[in-house]
Amino acid sequence: MDIMGNKNEWDSNLAFILAMIGSAVGLGNIWRYPYVLYSNGGGEFYIPYLIAILVLAIPFTILEYGVGYNYKSSFTKAIININPKLEYYGWILPVVVFIMTIYYSTIIGWDGIYFILSFFKGWGSDPNTFLSHNILHSTNSLGGIFHFLPLVALSMLVVWFIVWLISHKNLEDGLGKVSKIFVPILFITMIIIVIYSLTLPGANIGLNELFKPDYEALWNIDIWVAAFGQIFFSLSLGMGAGFTYASYTKKDIDLVTSGLYVVIANSLFENFAAFGVFATLGHMSLQSGIPIEKIVSEGASLIFVTYPQIFNVLGVIALILGPLFFFTVYVAGITSMLSSFEVLSISIQNKFNMTRKKTTSILVLVGALASMIYATSCGEYILTITDNFVNNFVVIFSVIIECILFTWIFKAEKLIKFLNSKSKTLKLGKWWIILLKYIIPILLCILWVEGINDIIKDTNNQYMLIFVILLAILLIFTLILTVLKPKSQNWFKTEERIK
Ligand code: PFF
Repeated sequence: MDIMGNKNEWDSNLAFILAMIGSAVGLGNIWRYPYVLYSNGGGEFYIPYLIAILVLAIPFTILEYGVGYNYKSSFTKAIININPKLEYYGWILPVVVFIMTIYYSTIIGWDGIYFILSFFKGWGSDPNTFLSHNILHSTNSLGGIFHFLPLVALSMLVVWFIVWLISHKNLEDGLGKVSKIFVPILFITMIIIVIYSLTLPGANIGLNELFKPDYEALWNIDIWVAAFGQIFFSLSLGMGAGFTYASYTKKDIDLVTSGLYVVIANSLFENFAAFGVFATLGHMSLQSGIPIEKIVSEGASLIFVTYPQIFNVLGVIALILGPLFFFTVYVAGITSMLSSFEVLSISIQNKFNMTRKKTTSILVLVGALASMIYATSCGEYILTITDNFVNNFVVIFSVIIECILFTWIFKAEKLIKFLNSKSKTLKLGKWWIILLKYIIPILLCILWVEGINDIIKDTNNQYMLIFVILLAILLIFTLILTVLKPKSQNWFKTEERIK
């Protein structure tokens, strides 16, 4: 219980694990992974993917959980305790994750519209252009900002309202309860969809296409960058979500094994989703005679173009599978958004001694208002740039610093004894420290340089302008939160749980 009476503790360790799986399993698993897997060659992608899990995901997840558990406080407060001069850095991550939360709400909003449409296949016979033309009226020109889209706005406001409904309650009644109910539902609905798709005629054509290995491709750095990038986003690594959720755990928790469960559940889910997508694509290819590579499409369009195309050829059963699919994406999105929303929220609660109710209400209002920029004709365009800005530029940079701070200055070694004493599975040793101190920061630097390279390749004046505006927004908000006087007397001092 903190001074404001907020009881920030999970009622059980299961609640923590389920909430963490809810955070990890999101749009990244359904919207991003199948395409990343396919466009990086399918079969051979599993090699860098597995290495990314072993070298990056598992060690880093355990580190975040360990430090979060130790400080039992927000990310920002923990950073100040590591070094009070670093408060500005301590706000960068929560603010950038909040920016991500804002555009994440937009994609969930689009999904909400498709959920309704799926009851009557309202996207028509040509889903190809339906989202961009009919719903978003997309344009790459900034003039589109004056073309407001009420339907998209409404759908996003519903998302923000749901997030408010859940996160303004105390942890047990809000996030805890929702995770216990909705995470199992998420897995059950996905399993139903995938099993059905595997029984479709032609499913094997799709799976063969997915698994065709080409080991030569492993020499290409892009496939490695893609695997590490995917693991990052998909597991919500380094974005403060795992840190925050672990800080809410009780004393008697096996963080190492919990981390393993989360990593395994997340990977199972995304691979399961990919099998479903490709089995159904195989079926579609058999029916239409069009080769798979012509049907498969990237990112957002996989959900909003390929799936509707698939539902169009499936007949009546699509009227059940369609709503079930878009509902699954919705739930996966909301449970992830709740965790990214929590990162800034708890930092603000800690610094300004505000109640959970007041903080979440203010943040939902700010977030909902800011998200309206995406409810305009150039929303889709700005969203793509923001996604690049957040994931390829700021987050990776911030995680490099996080990794260095937690290992070199905080000295992660001191967590090992505690973590091992609770762990019923993996025991940490020197290898853990070596990975975190040397190998992961180097890998992340490579990832960062590659990401910036990609941004530079894409850029033009307008792109650069939006990029600079985003950077200014980030730096200004971070500065404001840093210089505002704390209302909490113990903002600069936190007890450490691990001595
Ligand atoms: N892991 C989420 C996904 O795969 O969609 C994305 C995400 C959620 C990233 C929450 C970061 C975060 F804090």
